[in-house]
Amino acid sequence: MRNESLNPEVLPPAAAGPTTTRASSRHAAGTLIDKYGRHITYIRLSITDRCDFRCTYCMAEEMTFLPRDQVLSLEECLRVVRTFVGLGVTKVRITGGEPLVRKNVLWLLERIAALDGLKDLVLTTNGSQLDRYAADLKQAGVKRINVSLDTLRPERFKAITRIGDLDKVLRGIDAAGAAGFTRTKLNTVMMRGVNDDEFVDLVRYAMAHDLNVSFIEEMPLGDVGHGRSNTYYSTDEGLALLSPHFGLVPTVENTGGPARYWRIPGSETRVGFISPHSHNFCDSCNRVRVTAQGELYPCLGQNDAMSLMPLLREGDDDAPLRAAIVRAMGIKPKEHNFTEQLDAPRVVRFMSMTGG
Ligand code: 5AD
Ligand code: SF4
Repeated sequence: MRNESLNPEVLPPAAAGPTTTRASSRHAAGTLIDKYGRHITYIRLSITDRCDFRCTYCMAEEMTFLPRDQVLSLEECLRVVRTFVGLGVTKVRITGGEPLVRKNVLWLLERIAALDGLKDLVLTTNGSQLDRYAADLKQAGVKRINVSLDTLRPERFKAITRIGDLDKVLRGIDAAGAAGFTRTKLNTVMMRGVNDDEFVDLVRYAMAHDLNVSFIEEMPLGDVGHGRSNTYYSTDEGLALLSPHFGLVPTVENTGGPARYWRIPGSETRVGFISPHSHNFCDSCNRVRVTAQGELYPCLGQNDAMSLMPLLREGDDDAPLRAAIVRAMGIKPKEHNFTEQLDAPRVVRFMSMTGG
């Protein structure tokens, strides 16, 4: 299947969007390059918009989820990933909603992991099902796991997730370790007055359990209905808070994304900060997103998307799908547009749609 995809698609300039020239939409065989010369090697695929939590910063309390026929089937998910991998993508992150609430998720993971050319299959989860899934995920070929964890206090966990049971998630994190996952990463959304008194504890917890931890600036996505600029907490503040406790040392590790990492002397634990408000990572952006509805979002911070669903449902020929993906690189913007949107989000999707 990889050979088949080595035919470069030659696009008419008009198809690649108004600002794209023939030269800028060109791509070498088996690679995806956008019009700013960035190589796209990483996709994040949301396999469901559903979740068993309702985190305040992610979802409304009453969510209407997509009808099932509007969600990619597992076979369609596999086809999308296979096509991207044929175009040179080497890393796939499966997200949601909560990916582990999707029935037969292991069927999909096993097949993605086996794709020729794929190096890294990783998963983002809320941890709610991890205690029963960890060993199977390892067996299926998942390399690493990210677990969302904003607090270590049960009451607070309940308040933030509206539903979740902290103990179950902590058991899931232990199960991941027992199943042989290493470098599991906690994702903590920083929220002033909500969990900013626990950042030190969360780093200590990560150190005690051989985990990494990333602190995420809250992103203005969706109409979640609380004054976001009140809870907004910046990377700089987080660093200033944690550095005196842990003597954080900057590293040069780079994921091509908005994360920067710090070391703690004498510990394997890495502390990351994800600063979506900063533009300085856009230059090296290597990723695109596909929603559970099959919409390809070249940038999380922009509303431009391309629907892959009609191409998937039209027939078995992958050529139109491949051509559309190549064409979509023409609408990947130079940089995102989050800043200044804290209380009036212009990006109106919920995080559960695009999977973080
Ligand atoms: N801002 C920042 N991070 C968010 N997440 C969900 N919604 C937001 C938001 N509005 C995070 C979750 C999870 C990942 C999938 O995205 O904490 O770790
Ligand atoms: Fe679910 Fe994750 Fe959104 Fe929380 S942040 S509601 S766990 S998808």
